[in-house]
Amino acid sequence: MVKICCIGAGYVGGPTMAVIALKCPSIEVAVVDISKSRIAAWNSDQLPIYEPGLDGVVKQCRGKNLFFSTDVEKHVYEADIVFVSVNTPTKTRGLGAGKAADLTYWESAARMIADVSKSDKIVVEKSTVPVKTAEAIEKILTHNGKGIKFQILSNPEFLAEGTAIEDLFKPDRVLIGGRETPEGQKSIQTLKNVYAHWVPEERILTTNLWSAELSKLAANAFLAQRISSVNAMSALCEATGANVTQVSYAVGTDTRIGPKFLNASVGFGGSCFQKDILNLVYICECNGLPEVAEYWKQVIKINDYQKSRFVNRVVSSMFNTVATKKIAILGFAFKKDTGDTRETPAIDVCKGLLGDKARLSIYDPQVTEDQIQRDLWMNKFDWDHPIHLQPTSPTTEKKVSVVWDAYEATKDADGVCILTEWDEFKTLDYQKVYDNMRKPAFVFDGRNIVDVDKLREIGFIVYSIGKPLDPWLKDMPAVA
Ligand code: UDX
Ligand code: ADP
Repeated sequence: MVKICCIGAGYVGGPTMAVIALKCPSIEVAVVDISKSRIAAWNSDQLPIYEPGLDGVVKQCRGKNLFFSTDVEKHVYEADIVFVSVNTPTKTRGLGAGKAADLTYWESAARMIADVSKSDKIVVEKSTVPVKTAEAIEKILTHNGKGIKFQILSNPEFLAEGTAIEDLFKPDRVLIGGRETPEGQKSIQTLKNVYAHWVPEERILTTNLWSAELSKLAANAFLAQRISSVNAMSALCEATGANVTQVSYAVGTDTRIGPKFLNASVGFGGSCFQKDILNLVYICECNGLPEVAEYWKQVIKINDYQKSRFVNRVVSSMFNTVATKKIAILGFAFKKDTGDTRETPAIDVCKGLLGDKARLSIYDPQVTEDQIQRDLWMNKFDWDHPIHLQPTSPTTEKKVSVVWDAYEATKDADGVCILTEWDEFKTLDYQKVYDNMRKPAFVFDGRNIVDVDKLREIGFIVYSIGKPLDPWLKDMPAVA
């Protein structure tokens, strides 16, 4: 029986391995992690991450050919294929601080693999890493491996959160990069055989190591760039009276452009886009390509601009001050159908409003109070370390309350900010919301999900990203 071990039971490792176990009953899959609480949660009825469909997959395989364990060394020792899916935070200190990836966790995983292995293994990079990481990992393994042969493959994961199970069942492509030697090609084939259990052959692409590593960064950069492009247009729409939804629809019907990833928003979040672009920028700079680096940096600058533009709209509409006013925040996750808050635009928007002394009442159907408090008091870049290494937050912060209901959050509020496109926010009883708010009552829709005309009829003053402005907002500057 082929044995697979995955180091890192996170958003990528957990769902990916669960689907491999489901689709390959003849393979034994162990997912290991240093975090005891995370593993305990994977072994319980309350999985550590919220992902539609994941529960069912885990229930079908757990205890049969899918195991979650903290015994990292035992499972690595027994495995034929070791996936590495650990954190790769952005460096906060030293060379490349604020841009380069911090490979501490990767390096310690590689050293441990070298230490405990007694048989040849295929080691698969699953976490997104800078181009040429495989080369560094290869060196660690071969210099410490006591004659054991390791083949390194890069097999980046393209799943998006919220649709992870769907994406894993029916991937657009699976990408496997390896060495162009006979041993490298043999390892590629071994991994290909795993995916071939359910992925059509023509969707499994094989490349050299560097192409696979770079493709992941490039794909995320292209996707993020589309969002920054439409967000840049949203600012122009507000200035000219055009409607960004109509513009992006018209643009997206060109088959060469296509309709996806053209929704204007308060900004993109998630664990990948910003981190991967910063990484790309750093690699370009290191390779003497400052113009290319500058080009990609702009995608992040527009994203930051979009978030601060939103905060400025809120503050300037409310008579230039939100001090002591109650603002309801609807949605804190970086997108709907996930409880993940990594790099969510809500963090910057909330920090911006708190900077202006607002009182916030936050509601998200999937994010816990502890997570929100932690996010709001954590420093930039601290979020991507294993949870037990993250700073804890002061729990009783008077300016932020977290509630479990949208009506409770909006009660007696002066304004409402919609920051995540949860379906339930589309169908709220906005008349009831309005009746319970202070007047004038404002709605700032950062996801373009409300019916602007209907809300205006009720009596709200409405700002919706990239839509023609409410007369109230016309003379209020959106830029600080
Ligand atoms: C992304 C990539 O899609 C995935 O392939 C990669 O493996 C990991 O990074 P993810 O971060 O999970 O996935 O979510 P994604 O759906 O890409 O959304 C990222 C952010 O962009 C979210 O904050 C989302 O709200 C925002 N977004 C997306 C927009 O603002 N507008 C859009 O049109 C699409
Ligand atoms: P991703 O979104 O890429 O899956 P996560 O942060 O959700 O990232 O998951 C990474 C996991 O890797 C965390 O649960 C962390 O505890 C784990 N981890 C980090 N370093 C190691 C290590 N050396 N050995 C085992 N697990 C590790």
